Amino acid sequence: MRKVTLIKGDGIGPSIMDAAVAVINASGANIEWVEAEAGLGAYERHGTPLPEATLESIAETRVAFKGPLTTMVGEGFRSINVELRKEYDLYANVRPAKSWRGVKTRFEDVDIVIVRENTEGLYVGLEHYLSPKKDIAESLAVVTKAGSERIVEYAFQYAIDNNRKKVTVCHKANILKFTQGLFLNTAREVAARYPQIEFDEKIIDAACMHMVMRPEQFDVVVTTNMFGDILSDLTAGLVGGLGLMPGANIGADAALFEAVHGSAPDIAGKNIANPTAVMMAGVMMLHHLGEHEPAQRLQTALESVVNAGEFVTPDLNPNSKTGTSGFAEAIVAALR
Ligand SMILES: NC(=O)c1ccc[n+]([C@@H]2O[C@H](COP(=O)([O-])OP(=O)(O)OC[C@H]3O[C@@H](n4cnc5c(N)ncnc54)[C@H](O)[C@@H]3O)[C@@H](O)[C@H]2O)c1
Repeated sequence: MRKVTLIKGDGIGPSIMDAAVAVINASGANIEWVEAEAGLGAYERHGTPLPEATLESIAETRVAFKGPLTTMVGEGFRSINVELRKEYDLYANVRPAKSWRGVKTRFEDVDIVIVRENTEGLYVGLEHYLSPKKDIAESLAVVTKAGSERIVEYAFQYAIDNNRKKVTVCHKANILKFTQGLFLNTAREVAARYPQIEFDEKIIDAACMHMVMRPEQFDVVVTTNMFGDILSDLTAGLVGGLGLMPGANIGADAALFEAVHGSAPDIAGKNIANPTAVMMAGVMMLHHLGEHEPAQRLQTALESVVNAGEFVTPDLNPNSKTGTSGFAEAIVAALR
């Protein structure tokens, strides 16, 4: 049995995580869940959004499966997602966006993997006011050569391991000549070591336009923290929305798997949240744990239910009366 720390999270978290755990258990994977708390709920219950027991659990299991956590905007504690990535040095955020046969969108053949640098850039939390009146504020972006090198290496290695053909680096080195320039120059150096993989460079704003006009020209995309955050929501939009987009946060000796979306307070408690993204994150986690067969079985069952379009949540089929739990039951039935 492989131990995994399970954090159900806030808002829609408990409902989609219960659904995901049910289908992972039914896939035949050898997992022992170790429940831990984090987020707004943990803060209300324990006075801290990231209890020591949760950190200890992840330090022991080295693998976490996490629901979305609510972050207060502009006040209160810092994002726990950012804290967890920092604590375990989860430097690679991998977000695959692939078209689903049964989900109608503008494009049919999107297959893009965003590899986002997860520990540096503008999200390092170096922010302050520059005036007592608090009418001037400053944020600092930190980019290091070592940090850039390991994320671009990760992207190329991912391309090789997953039979991908091309890596595109997205940057803004034309304006931010130091931070983004360092990232781009390092990417060029790393790319030269992988002649078998095609390398392309795009300025981030142009990349956004290209991506919504001709997404098929993108394969693996590597970029800095904030650009990756934004670009991955864009790719989620190309394949049917946030409810379908999984994410893996990978470090040298720990990993955390989650959906890209947040805690969706607008639909919490209604049993209508789509659990597909977090189930796909579960598939990524099973591969990471070497449980390839259960991972494949789960993916096939999930695809069959999503593509049939009948027992899915209303965001995928507005005529459907199926809720989050009914969706999971349909996948468990498909697994049997
Ligand atoms: N990884 C994380 O834990 C994470 C990521 C993003 C945002 N957040 C936090 O979540 C909270 C809410 O953020 P937000 O509203 O900007 O973004 P959100 O992703 O929670 O919601 C954006 C929109 O997408 C919809 N949506 C999201 N997930 C869905 C799903 N599974 N099924 C169907 N519809 C879904 C929501 O109903 C909402 O209309 C904030 O506190 C934010 O900080 C957490």
